[in-house]
Amino acid sequence: MSTAAEQIVVMGVSGSGKSTIGALLADALAVPFLDADGLHPQANIVKMASGVPLTDADRWPWLALVGRAMSDAGAAGTGLVIACSALKRVYRDAIVAAAPNVRFVHLTGTFDVLGNRLKGRSEHFMPPALLRSQLATLEELQADEPGFAVDIDQPALNAVTESVARLGAPELPASVLIGVGAGGLPVVRVNGRAGAAEVYLQGAHVTSWSPAGASSALWMSDFSEFAPGKPLRGGVPICFPWFGPHDTDANAPAHGFARLVAWRLVQAREVGDDIELVFGLTDNDLRSTWSYRFETLYTVTVGAQLGLALQVRNLDVVSMTFAEAFHTYLTVPDIHAVTVSGFEDLGFIDRLAEPPALDAEGHPVTVAAETDRIYLGTNAEARIADGTGRTVSISTEGSQSRVIWNPWSAKAAAMPDFGAEEWTGMVCVETANVMSDQVTLAPGETHTMSAVIAQTF
Ligand code: BG6
Repeated sequence: MSTAAEQIVVMGVSGSGKSTIGALLADALAVPFLDADGLHPQANIVKMASGVPLTDADRWPWLALVGRAMSDAGAAGTGLVIACSALKRVYRDAIVAAAPNVRFVHLTGTFDVLGNRLKGRSEHFMPPALLRSQLATLEELQADEPGFAVDIDQPALNAVTESVARLGAPELPASVLIGVGAGGLPVVRVNGRAGAAEVYLQGAHVTSWSPAGASSALWMSDFSEFAPGKPLRGGVPICFPWFGPHDTDANAPAHGFARLVAWRLVQAREVGDDIELVFGLTDNDLRSTWSYRFETLYTVTVGAQLGLALQVRNLDVVSMTFAEAFHTYLTVPDIHAVTVSGFEDLGFIDRLAEPPALDAEGHPVTVAAETDRIYLGTNAEARIADGTGRTVSISTEGSQSRVIWNPWSAKAAAMPDFGAEEWTGMVCVETANVMSDQVTLAPGETHTMSAVIAQTF
């Protein structure tokens, strides 16, 4: 997706880290960086050097230069990040008048945090009174101004990660925040009336979902790696466009690439008591590993239930075939007590047996050893009873396969992102289209696989 080069003013009082974070942000956005201090006319420099505060009249010519630099960068298409205090609304309005596409990233901090930052600067001593007067002058960004505030009480790189994620995000309702999660990865945090959730942009990966008043129904390993390009262990990884190992390419990542790359948050809105997030990923992000042109939209609805819907559109001129799965890790108190109902009358593929095809068992699935089975040609609701009276149900549309997985002790021990006993607290019941249920789309066609997860006590 080609987006216009960003035009950003990183603003804030002295000590907020405008220059450091501004330069890092410019690097991350691949645009030039300019410190507005260097644009002051000579007369202002002389005045400041002699300790005389600048007046608004002194600042107008300087702000005109800031606006000009931003507007020139816009016209040239190069984009620009400028570090500029821009403490007052009128100053910002003047910059916006010159460069209408500009956005402000306001670095905010408490008096104590800012004071400590200033104390740490050997070349720069600012008496507390001066910081207080700057904070008194500061007019926060108002709702009708383009931009947002970023808290500086975090490592500079995290402030940059948060800024980049928020610059790429749509307008957010108050119940949705973008921040930085484990491993410095950007995360969308949802706190709605009916439920809360966290979704990492990497993989559009739901790592927790808690209906109001309950703890997360999704299991996450305490040992999961959180790093760019590495799969997370737990939550709901999206497997796409293949499941398990790639058919022909031994070097291709297991379960496809969708769980390894950053998705974009394209919409966030409140729908009644629920919060609906829509994430997008297109072929342009992954041209080298998937030769088809396609578009995916993934809708996550957070409330008393968790809704997941993956829509895939074929934008190519040839048909394409893909597998997909919501690799849902559910948390259970003890795997030995779990039963999974819904598939009693169906034969299944046991990926651990030879031959793998087995007849229907006639009773709910229990897990008493390593389990890795696939049910094909079914859209039956899965009901997972955990032995305490709690049942999780997963109903689906557009899905014909279910996968049930628990690695048990030996396999879990061989996986660095599984704690020694963690396998007893999880079961994967996956909503999928795999093997003979893979989806083929003609050019222009769209397919949606959806799941609704609910729990009753
Ligand atoms: C399951 C597969 O869906 O995912 C298993 O059926 C696999 O075979 C498991 O081991 C975990 O996969 P990964 O790549 O996340 O370790």
